[in-house]
Amino acid sequence: MITKAHGKHGDAAIEAKGLVKRFKSGKGFVEVLKGVDFDAKHGDLTMVMGPSGSGKSTLIAALSGLLRPEEGKVATLDVPDLWKLSAGRIDKFRLDNCGFIFQGFNLFPALTALQQVETVLKFQGLTPEQAKKRATLALEEVGLKPRLHQRPTSLSGGEKQRVAIARALAKDPQILFADEPTSALDGENGQVVIRLLRRAATEHGAAVVCVTHDPRLEAWADRIIHIEDGRIIDDTRRTPDPEATLASSH
Ligand SMILES: Nc1ncnc2c1ncn2[C@@H]1O[C@H](COP(=O)(O)OP(=O)(O)O)[C@@H](O)[C@H]1O
Ligand SMILES: [Mg+2]
Repeated sequence: MITKAHGKHGDAAIEAKGLVKRFKSGKGFVEVLKGVDFDAKHGDLTMVMGPSGSGKSTLIAALSGLLRPEEGKVATLDVPDLWKLSAGRIDKFRLDNCGFIFQGFNLFPALTALQQVETVLKFQGLTPEQAKKRATLALEEVGLKPRLHQRPTSLSGGEKQRVAIARALAKDPQILFADEPTSALDGENGQVVIRLLRRAATEHGAAVVCVTHDPRLEAWADRIIHIEDGRIIDDTRRTPDPEATLASSH
């Protein structure tokens, strides 16, 4: 596996300009991103907040090479224009550099926690022994040492999300995308998850881009960007509070 040196804290990991995304709707189009400029820096937990339907997931997809925008440009790491690459090169870029955490966890039902993480690392070219060692470490780091050989059906929601995080972090990604990572979790488990995202930025220097409509997560962010109806309406830098607590709403 090629482990590239991470960018320095404060260096841009993504710089997007003028992103426009339209979907077909009846005879016309609906514009979901209306000329979005966006950037994210190494070491920052950048929170993108906005109501449901405001374009958050579409933005992540456009930034990560999953969904081609009609207009605009994404410069990221050493790639000057992501959407000019071939589909294969975009996939390779994502595999080598990006981690993803989704609300629904996206785990394989048949695989144990350890296998979920090993599989991704083998795709990246690690030997089975290397993959096992690194996957075990990643799962231990999220507190799942006693759960290595459990399948998703015997894990709680919080544990499943931690497996997904271990899978994303095991490859030490330069960019970590999280889409509503806490919305299926109670306060206590949500707090474990947001702290892990905070650590990925602070200790690993990842550019963490977390989209959510949960305002309780703001406390951990270095930067809060508000999006509404496909437009960025506000962008504020702040000092994170790593000791913040997510009061349980249950
Ligand atoms: N594949 C699609 N086809 C048509 N409309 C879509 C598609 N994906 C998303 N949309 C629409 O785009 C808008 C923004 O969606 P999304 O980015 O998922 O918002 P958010 O993540 O902020 O809730 C919504 O109105 C949604 O219905
Ligand atoms: Mg969404």
